[in-house]
Amino acid sequence: MTRLASAKILLIIGGGIAAYKALELIRRLKDAGAAVEVVMTEAAKHFITPLSAASLSANPVREALFSLDDEARMGHIELSRSSDLIVVAPATADLIARMANGLANDLATTTLLATDKRVLLAPAMNVRMWLAAPTRRNVATLAGDGALFVGPDEGAMACGEFGPGRMAEPAAIVDAIHKALTPPKPNLAGRHVVVTSGPTIEPIDPVRFLSNRSSGRQGHAIAAAALDAGAKVTLISGPVAIEDPKGARVIHVETAAQMMSAAEGALPADIFVAAAAVSDWRIAAPRGAKIKKKAGAAAPHLALVENPDILRAIASRAKDRPKIVIGFAAETENTVENAKKKLGAKGCDFVVANNVAEGRGIFGGADNEVALVSVADVQHWPRMSKEEVARKLIAVCAGLSDSSP
Ligand code: C5P
Repeated sequence: MTRLASAKILLIIGGGIAAYKALELIRRLKDAGAAVEVVMTEAAKHFITPLSAASLSANPVREALFSLDDEARMGHIELSRSSDLIVVAPATADLIARMANGLANDLATTTLLATDKRVLLAPAMNVRMWLAAPTRRNVATLAGDGALFVGPDEGAMACGEFGPGRMAEPAAIVDAIHKALTPPKPNLAGRHVVVTSGPTIEPIDPVRFLSNRSSGRQGHAIAAAALDAGAKVTLISGPVAIEDPKGARVIHVETAAQMMSAAEGALPADIFVAAAAVSDWRIAAPRGAKIKKKAGAAAPHLALVENPDILRAIASRAKDRPKIVIGFAAETENTVENAKKKLGAKGCDFVVANNVAEGRGIFGGADNEVALVSVADVQHWPRMSKEEVARKLIAVCAGLSDSSP
């Protein structure tokens, strides 16, 4: 999965002979599916034309800080924040010096000073300029401020000298962009994660049962994401039509009672995620033989009794309560409000709340749109794949389990 395909890149082109390579960079980014906005410095326009950059990026190029047209389209502050990453290529000695000193005397440096996004620089300059003490200081300052660098490469330079100073090739810059956009991989090595997933089925007789439409996709994706983060995973799954994630210990169950004893048996665990759609009730007295339909006879009366609440039971364990317990709330209205109530009622640390109202395609679908609710906070996540929800949830868990003693 590449985030480049949906990324918004703001490319600042500085004035150096390597500016022509920035055009190739735009082409590669567009080919990868990224949206590219371009800002050119005055000096850059001596090397390439704004028209070339505009044609390749399919966006008008921003050139001046005090341009009514540009500001009407998108203010420079908004421009500096609306991208996922700012790339400066070529980053000249002058641009690097102005950035390092917080100057804001043109659109490029104003945007760089105003941004809250990461900045990736691809320096390009004469070898002596790159090695000069002021540039060394400026690069160190920017790196200390969190700027990322790609290159420069070593080789023959346009000015006839040899050494470090050539701008990194566009393919290498694209790789660096990709890396900068990829969040660090969560690490759950050495942790045990238990996930319940899928529906439970509650027998009426040997051939009939009560169940629900849970596909298990979200729970299985969480197990897969935890495995990917290096955790030992126990997946307790009701009957589903999807494959077991490779590398997990999978316990297949049918009823809520079986899921309950499998969950208790899987402890101790560091993280417990109750993603299963557990039947709230079971048939009080399932028949040992198929209930026969008899002409004229009344329909059978099915008495129900409540199933054990697995999530609440695990969250309230005295000695071996997992450090992080996460429940799900599938609601059709007042999603967040109900999730907050559920946090307290179940005693869990997080509730992943989703609205499963009819027509939203959440139940059994590929996507999910959830809010992550804790006592302290509510995070609304935009609609995304269930795999992406799983990765984000595991990243939250990894962050918490890292910081806990
Ligand atoms: O109470 P409700 O069914 O809405 O709660 C949903 C959450 O509780 C889910 O995380 C589900 O896996 C869990 N649950 C459970 N055991 C039950 C019922 C729900 O673990 N019997």
